[in-house]
Amino acid sequence: MFSNINTDLEQLNNNLRKISGPRHPILYAAAEYLFSAGGKRIRPAIILLVAKATNTKEQLYDEHKRLAEITEIIHTASLLHDDVVDNCKTRRGLDTVNQKFNNKVAILAGDFLFAQSSWYLANLNNLSVVKIISKVITDFAEGEIEQGLRNFDPSSSLDTYMNKSFHKTASLLAYSCKAAAILSGADSKVQKHFYNYGKHLGIAFQIIDDILDLEGTEKNIGKPQGLDLKNGNLTAPTMFALDKCPELKEMIQREFTEKNDIQLATQIITRTNAIKQAKDLAKEHAQASLEYLHSYPKSQSIENLKLFSYNIINRIS
Ligand code: IPE
Ligand code: IPE
Ligand code: MG
Ligand code: MG
Repeated sequence: MFSNINTDLEQLNNNLRKISGPRHPILYAAAEYLFSAGGKRIRPAIILLVAKATNTKEQLYDEHKRLAEITEIIHTASLLHDDVVDNCKTRRGLDTVNQKFNNKVAILAGDFLFAQSSWYLANLNNLSVVKIISKVITDFAEGEIEQGLRNFDPSSSLDTYMNKSFHKTASLLAYSCKAAAILSGADSKVQKHFYNYGKHLGIAFQIIDDILDLEGTEKNIGKPQGLDLKNGNLTAPTMFALDKCPELKEMIQREFTEKNDIQLATQIITRTNAIKQAKDLAKEHAQASLEYLHSYPKSQSIENLKLFSYNIINRIS
């Protein structure tokens, strides 16, 4: 998937580490800590591939490279805040910033990265790109609030879950794919195709992340397993299981306060075919993302983008 952008990703990693500079030692330590921990760099990789695919000579402009950095900065800032909201103690295989430092440092470091991303964004000197990427930050905050308002609410619908998932996760991918196409000088039809590719891929990615929260292990996901249920964050598999099991509804309503509730709820969800239903939903979205690539001539970048769609589903098989 990374075959034709390896050097660019290496350069991106070096640039990210330098981002906060030595001016604010604590924020620097916090940001540098999280960037150095790695992460899969899925978002910048996709942006670089879309950038190449949408321009005639498969050329990467400096603006594309900066956009890829901006997306990873926004993503990392959202993780810093999300880990405070979710009271999450490990991430990317290390203690989270809220755990290693404290909540205040994590929130401020997140703010700092959001601000830094706005500065880089403004310096792209492209008003359309500024408009759509700044929307992503609003969407993220909205998604976190939508999720928080529905905690432990068994009457919340799959629709609200999809909406929240778009805001929290897919918006960044959708709009940054569109921005990459804009920076390539692509027309509005092409921009729309890549927006939709990113949107469906983002939704599929969140559904799989939610399945991994139930089925994965801390070792292979680099973050705690089972946190969604504990926090009352009802994700696709839980919603499918709820349709079939009234017992689960009671456990959610009492906020898993009885001994073994979480364990039992996890068993119920994994015993019914809720995981399979969620996986099928993710597959539908991965499939939908592929449809937007069909009209493009075969190239290494398009092939690698297709691989992202296939591999997202394979993360749980
Ligand atoms: C985690 O994203 C947050 C979600 C949107 C589900 P990633 O799984 O891409 O996290 P990193 O960047 O690889 O750590
Ligand atoms: C998506 O939600 C995360 C962000 C967009 C920040 P999650 O809460 O599922 O992400 P993880 O599981 O903490 O990585
Ligand atoms: Mg979280
Ligand atoms: Mg998750």
